[in-house]
Amino acid sequence: QEHKSAVSSPYKLVAEDLSTLCNDIKKELSPSPAELKLLSQYHFDGKGKAFRPMVVMLAAKACNIHYHQHPTNNALLASQRVVAFIAEMIHTASLIHDDVIDLAATRRGRPSVQEAWGQRNAILAGNFIMSAACVALARIRNTEVIKILSQVLEDLVSGEFMQLGSKEDEDERFNHYLQKTYKKTASLLANSCKAVAVLSGCDESSIEQVYQYGRNIGIAFQLVDDLLDFISTEQLMGKPTAADLKLGLATAPVLFAAHQSNGIAHTKFLAEQHSNEAIKQISMLFPSDERNALITLTHNVLHRLK
Ligand code: FPP
Ligand code: MG
Ligand code: MG
Repeated sequence: QEHKSAVSSPYKLVAEDLSTLCNDIKKELSPSPAELKLLSQYHFDGKGKAFRPMVVMLAAKACNIHYHQHPTNNALLASQRVVAFIAEMIHTASLIHDDVIDLAATRRGRPSVQEAWGQRNAILAGNFIMSAACVALARIRNTEVIKILSQVLEDLVSGEFMQLGSKEDEDERFNHYLQKTYKKTASLLANSCKAVAVLSGCDESSIEQVYQYGRNIGIAFQLVDDLLDFISTEQLMGKPTAADLKLGLATAPVLFAAHQSNGIAHTKFLAEQHSNEAIKQISMLFPSDERNALITLTHNVLHRLK
């Protein structure tokens, strides 16, 4: 049945919208010196998972349907499309900087920007993508959306900074980890979802539900990422694994293992709890294929292998 297949593949529902993503981003990055253009466009060749823009586009469509209380009103607004590609730009810029901080030689199955062109160029490429994202953001001309997405930039930097230092106190350590996880990963998903919800014209409580969906799936996503760092391989992930311990970072699997016997199982359980909360929140929107796809995605996040 058509309905069923649409639900089973969240990607299909936004495949057409996603097909222009890289080109839209490259346009934002084109008026620059030739080499800066080359470096900053490096990651926008369609090899990324485009997980964030997919979630943002599905959330936008689900919100538009909710607003009209009718499943045919699902077309993305131009401004929502911009938020989706800004989310991918912010994400990519932060990864380019992250690879400098983590001294990672690979990303998405090939040399990282810092490996290929050196740290100084990588820092500038990340900054350039970030600035171009800000220019695109301003063009939406919506101060609330500007505020929401600017908060993401602040969270990313302070989350990454929190990761540099750990808490001495045993009890504080886990809260510190969860707060850091929100800031470095979940804030981008939560606030991009919130931005498209605001643009849809939805009421405050729906905006909050969509935000909570993004927050919870974001935390689950990072918990699974921290798990995969332990149990997966560089070949599968396309980036270094077993990296966190080498960098001196204690993530959930280790923090749990310090108290209980099975750190991996407990991390999975915590990810499941967040995924269930995400489902609960998004289920409050008007029923649609897009809403159901957001539910399906929580399952994909928990069971992903890369
Ligand atoms: C990946 O974590 C890193 C992030 C999700 C955030 C990185 C943020 C910064 C470097 C701050 C700079 C921000 C801006 C706005 C330019 P990871 O190292 O655990 O994941 P990985 O295994 O994919 O490397
Ligand atoms: Mg890192
Ligand atoms: Mg890293």
